[in-house]
Amino acid sequence: MADQDTTIRLIRVDDAEVLAAHRARDRRAYAAWEPAQPDDFYTAAGQRRRIETLLGEHDRGERWPAVVLAGDEVAGQVTVSTILRGPFRKGFLGYWVASAFTGRGHATRAVGLILTVMAEELGLRRAEAHTRMDNLASQRVLRANGFHPWGIAHSHIYLDGAWHDEVFWERLLDEAPPS
Ligand SMILES: CC(C)(COP(=O)(O)OP(=O)(O)OC[C@H]1O[C@@H](n2cnc3c(N)ncnc32)[C@H](O)[C@@H]1OP(=O)(O)O)[C@@H](O)C(=O)NCCC(=O)NCCS
Repeated sequence: MADQDTTIRLIRVDDAEVLAAHRARDRRAYAAWEPAQPDDFYTAAGQRRRIETLLGEHDRGERWPAVVLAGDEVAGQVTVSTILRGPFRKGFLGYWVASAFTGRGHATRAVGLILTVMAEELGLRRAEAHTRMDNLASQRVLRANGFHPWGIAHSHIYLDGAWHDEVFWERLLDEAPPS
């Protein structure tokens, strides 16, 4: 079934145009969930510059920036950032799926796929994420992937003109000692 066909791959500079188009289309609709960005974030040129920065961070082992593919179409992004090694071996998860592709399980499957990358490719043992208290769709995505809420950070993120509380989520990937 086409809707089941979700994959992820490392972001490429030539993804810029489609990512900019998604971001521009959903700018208002996602303002409650995504931080405000400068105007050039919504242009292909701005996305190209940003992707080059993300790939530099990937080369330094700090980030794993992926796109979500629905079939062969770029539908969103899923990213492991703030990768810490040594005694922590953990990463922070962020994701979005363009509104044209939501409600078909793509985010849930993409998060499952990147958890496998975190465990098997990056050797991490812990994934973390934050959601706004009222971002129920995102919370469903995390719960479906075995995340548990472990606390609330008050007045934690500034979105759409106000500070908001957030739920902190965790998912353990393995219990092996640091290598
Ligand atoms: C949150 C987001 C990633 C979900 O993407 P998606 O591809 O639609 O997600 P899925 O289809 O895999 O799953 C969504 C789940 O949320 C549920 N859902 C959707 N809207 C909901 C709502 N208003 N209230 C409660 N649940 C809701 C769906 O039923 C589904 O749950 P189910 O699989 O148990 O039926 C997408 O809407 C998005 O990018 N939003 C804006 C950015 C964002 O919020 N990013 C995450 C920041 S923490």
